[in-house]
Amino acid sequence: MGYGELRRRTEWLRAMYASIVDTYDLLNNVLSFKQANHWRRFAAECSGLAPGGRGLDVACGTGLLTLELARLAGSSGRVVGVDFCLEMLNRARKNVRRSPFRDIIRFELGNADALPFSDQSFDCVTMGFALRAVPDPERSIAELIRVVKPGGRVVTLELAKPSVPVFKEIYAVYLSRLVPLVGRLGVGRPGPYDFLARSVRAFRHQAEIRDLFVRAGLADVRYYELTGGIAAVHVGTRSLPA
Ligand SMILES: C[S@@+](CC[C@H](N)C(=O)[O-])C[C@H]1O[C@@H](n2cnc3c(N)ncnc32)[C@H](O)[C@@H]1O
Repeated sequence: MGYGELRRRTEWLRAMYASIVDTYDLLNNVLSFKQANHWRRFAAECSGLAPGGRGLDVACGTGLLTLELARLAGSSGRVVGVDFCLEMLNRARKNVRRSPFRDIIRFELGNADALPFSDQSFDCVTMGFALRAVPDPERSIAELIRVVKPGGRVVTLELAKPSVPVFKEIYAVYLSRLVPLVGRLGVGRPGPYDFLARSVRAFRHQAEIRDLFVRAGLADVRYYELTGGIAAVHVGTRSLPA
């Protein structure tokens, strides 16, 4: 992808996410049958973040996965959420306002392709529902690895591809028909949720994401399929220096 095309795509995506801020949390709950928060909690737990630790949530959106990390880091920890969409970050700030962990959370503007943090600055890094949106997943994974300390974990949560017969077919219909329809009713126009359905279909299988983690040099790579494979959490550890 050339520089001009990359810029146009980034701007289009940023504006698309900005346009769904008000309905994002509600539609996320409805469309996932209230599973999304369980998936986020599981992903956070896979990060191994301990009390007092420092976590980073990349493409944090409205901050719900960031909050799960903060719950684990506790009052002596530090958690940063980063996103390239200012409107999402403003909503995230609002969402954490009533949390007992609000004082340990900070939100910053930044791109997953070039994170605004120095090398090895976090004990763990997460990324929820965004790997399929970035232009170059390999590059974003390399960035996640760069900012995590050796021995720290990189965790991604993403919509995936169910493999159980019948369930798989039902889900395909749900994704191509119901998700765009509910999305259009929710945001009042076609676009964002058609993108969601399209991007899930076009994205790589969870086994390929595992291979991507391995190729990127992560150790102890594994993945968990959630709710019949509708979502998947991938976990890898940055190796300690030899
Ligand atoms: C589907 S939302 C997921 C938000 C959140 N992680 C969650 O658990 O709900 C995707 C988010 O990724 C952000 N995003 C997409 N591409 C990005 C990039 N290249 N850099 C930073 N943020 C990005 C969007 O602004 C949006 O907030």
